[in-house]
Amino acid sequence: MDLQKDKERRMDMYKDLEGKTVVITGGNSGLGRAMAERFGAEKSNVVINYHSNDDNIDEIIEKIENAGGKASSIQGDVGSEEDVKRIIEHAVHTFGSLDVMVNNAGIENEVPSEQLSLDDWNKVINTNLTGQFLGSREAINYMLENDIKGSIINMSSVHQRIPWPHFVHYAASKGGVKLMTETLALEFAPKGIRVNCIAPGAIDTPINAEKFSDPELEKGVLELIPMGYIGKPEEIAACAVWLASKEASYVTGLTLFADGGMTQYPGFQAGKG
Ligand code: NAI
Repeated sequence: MDLQKDKERRMDMYKDLEGKTVVITGGNSGLGRAMAERFGAEKSNVVINYHSNDDNIDEIIEKIENAGGKASSIQGDVGSEEDVKRIIEHAVHTFGSLDVMVNNAGIENEVPSEQLSLDDWNKVINTNLTGQFLGSREAINYMLENDIKGSIINMSSVHQRIPWPHFVHYAASKGGVKLMTETLALEFAPKGIRVNCIAPGAIDTPINAEKFSDPELEKGVLELIPMGYIGKPEEIAACAVWLASKEASYVTGLTLFADGGMTQYPGFQAGKG
């Protein structure tokens, strides 16, 4: 299925996103890139944060501009307070506002928990949880100061709910993202700032490249997906633009699971239960 060529899939559905400024951390790869291109197709101003590799930034910017959006890029580590402040300042300086903050950047590595080093634990928590906190806090401060009823979208995972042996740091970070999202949603609802998260299942991005290049491992993952296929980044981007748009104006504190049914106890399919 090539969703980009699916003629029935409109890529410019949300007129209110035109001219809105959207920051996407880790916006040059996988889900981040798909969201950057989708917000571009909605004619938003997209700020693409990248960590170290800017090889494909020009290509992404060109694609966004060809679709009628605007784009700019900025290097930065989401785990660094100074860098996150710089990313937000760049957005405001370049496009004059900040309306949507997508805290997407994330990492994972597989280690049996009894062997997990403090260094590896800290790296994952710092990027996946502290990074999303810093991005949320800085965006919220800007929105409060400028009376913007903006939207924060955090990238969680089905592992905010499903335990994951050998990935205890990752699962802990995503469980943290869930309650951070809900707490911020409650705290800033009176100001009209909505805070939600997306919890993808298994999606075809570089984070999974090794796993999906091994047919046995891919088969194992497919058995956990009632819908029977690995998700496409565009299917997650579709969730992000909806959450950012006015169509979701009364939605806050939500975890939007986009997982082909992975969290619906797939073992119970076919009479196993
Ligand atoms: P990816 O590896 O393609 O993209 C991750 C991005 O984060 C890259 O651009 C990377 O450079 C950036 N990044 C890493 N550390 C950073 C840092 N310290 N500062 C700034 N940027 C940094 O992976 P993918 O799949 O696109 O992941 C995006 C998010 O989606 C992550 O939070 C991940 O946990 C989450 N997710 C992905 C799933 C999947 O199946 N692909 C499933 C569930 C959640």
